[in-house]
Amino acid sequence: MIKRMVNKEQFINHILSKQSFDITKDTVSAYAPSNIALIKYWGKRDIQLNLPVTSSLSVSLGSKGTTTRVRVSKKDEFILNDCLLNATDPIAKRAWGFINLIRKSGQYFSIETTNTIPTAAGLASSASGFAALVLALNELYQWNLDEKSLSLIARLGSGSAARSFWQGFVLWHKGELENGLDSYAESMHIDWPEFRIGLLIHDEKQKEHSSRDAMNITQETSPFYAQWPELVKSDLANIKQALDEKDFNRVGQIAESNAQAMHALMWSARPSICFSSAHTFTLIRKICDLRAQGIPVYFTQDAGPNVKLLFLANDQSILEKEFDTMHVINPFEGKEQ
Ligand code: PMV
Repeated sequence: MIKRMVNKEQFINHILSKQSFDITKDTVSAYAPSNIALIKYWGKRDIQLNLPVTSSLSVSLGSKGTTTRVRVSKKDEFILNDCLLNATDPIAKRAWGFINLIRKSGQYFSIETTNTIPTAAGLASSASGFAALVLALNELYQWNLDEKSLSLIARLGSGSAARSFWQGFVLWHKGELENGLDSYAESMHIDWPEFRIGLLIHDEKQKEHSSRDAMNITQETSPFYAQWPELVKSDLANIKQALDEKDFNRVGQIAESNAQAMHALMWSARPSICFSSAHTFTLIRKICDLRAQGIPVYFTQDAGPNVKLLFLANDQSILEKEFDTMHVINPFEGKEQ
């Protein structure tokens, strides 16, 4: 084990030191689900290696995610949702920056990536995007890596991508090592067939700030950021217990409060950051009112204006009447409802 690694190249070289970079297949394809954090990752202890300040916990979105096809080619091209991206496009630049860490000189790829979720609208398309890309490269180079190694590699592309290799509830350990080799995710092996997520997508526009920039601004400038690691520690301990006991109200309360605390941190950043639209607040008010009427429904929100409901199968039909555009996901079937 190496004691200290300072950059991404050394990190990747270490993980892939015994692997071959010969290409034996022309085309490979892989799928990874998106994931939504119930306990958020918000802040890095190492920007280079995407090492988080805290651990985080997510639930994956079944068939909502990314399929990526990598084809060996004479020149590089990146196609996102059937649209050829300019090499200067931020999404393409980020993807090639990541691929360049891995591939060998003289290797060119045509990459076609298709999201079943809106791109960059706070619905974690970068998580499923980088996870699908890593799975495709694992196939292309025939590495046969275990999920822990895949999670470590994908983390360099996007932190939350470390959690997109499993369905269901996933825990990303923050790790303690400076070299980042213990900061990976794993499945929590919890089966909860009644658990539902309701996607309320009212805004598919690309967001003003990337989550990366918003995270860094918050961490550097919020006067309350120092309290975040302790809050996450106790939220994580409590939600793990609530998940074990299948105590839905407790899971919902903790997840909702954790998301609200993350947004409160952003509001307190300088300059202040607000991902919500007016409609986001209308939805939040409605969710609180429904709860006051006795319906156990909670929400979470990421770096975008869209709201995700958390509820149990019993309440699906009543909530479908209240939110007619809601898209329901059963994370334990691994497919849309
Ligand atoms: O992985 P990134 O850099 O896109 O950051 C993800 C940030 C949140 O989605 C807001 C929280 C999380 O844990 O997924």
